Amino acid sequence: MVNKINVGTLISGGGTNLQAIIDACLDNKIDANILFTGSDNPGVKGLERAEKAGIETFVVDYSKIIGSLKEEGIKDSDLPYDFNFNEILSKQQLVETGSSKEQVEFFLKSRAIAEKKLLDIILGYDMDLLVLAGFMRVLTPYFIDRINKEPGTYKIMNIHPALLPSFPGTDGYGDTLRYGCRIGGCTVHFIDYGEDTGPIIGQKAFEIDDTDTLDDIKKKGLEKEWQLYPECIQKFADSL
Ligand code: GRF
Repeated sequence: MVNKINVGTLISGGGTNLQAIIDACLDNKIDANILFTGSDNPGVKGLERAEKAGIETFVVDYSKIIGSLKEEGIKDSDLPYDFNFNEILSKQQLVETGSSKEQVEFFLKSRAIAEKKLLDIILGYDMDLLVLAGFMRVLTPYFIDRINKEPGTYKIMNIHPALLPSFPGTDGYGDTLRYGCRIGGCTVHFIDYGEDTGPIIGQKAFEIDDTDTLDDIKKKGLEKEWQLYPECIQKFADSL
């Protein structure tokens, strides 16, 4: 790979993974260039990190969007013009059976409304890869299909704080500790229609000592994440 790949990034918080990727790009350790950093959460430290590195930033405030849809209800005119509810419902693997029809409908429609706002910005960039660096929102097939335009190809990467397929969900390090595992780790994988289920690109592991607290495990894990994410982005660049 001679040319650099163009990478978009989405975050929700502190952005230490984003920082590791920024540093790897600036130090020419990986053949990548960051086009933008988007956040679902205004005012987070990760946005500051991006701005400091001269990266374009934007916010799509999910809490605000979902909150006002909850209050006012969803009208057909709020939905993206190309949103097909039955298609998204048949593809999605995010909502557990047992949720009511109304809950599923609100979930998929409200997320697609927010996702359309992300897509309106993201699709304006010439992007090879979208990197979720601590982006704490699930993405529905509505969004995924508009990024992975060619069937069978994956263009969205995520980092997860556990050795998948163990401990999917929002608290990977906590679940690892509570289960009593002696080894913890992190995983970079492609996004598919499920939660933390897509093809694995890379993993790193660390030992858990008897005296380790959750903070110790998070510290050990994050240090591995900062090495792993740039490596996996380079693997993707090499594959093109
Ligand atoms: C990381 O532990 C990542 O695995 C998880 O969220 C955390 C984000 O941390 N998805 P940061 O914002 O990169 O510091």
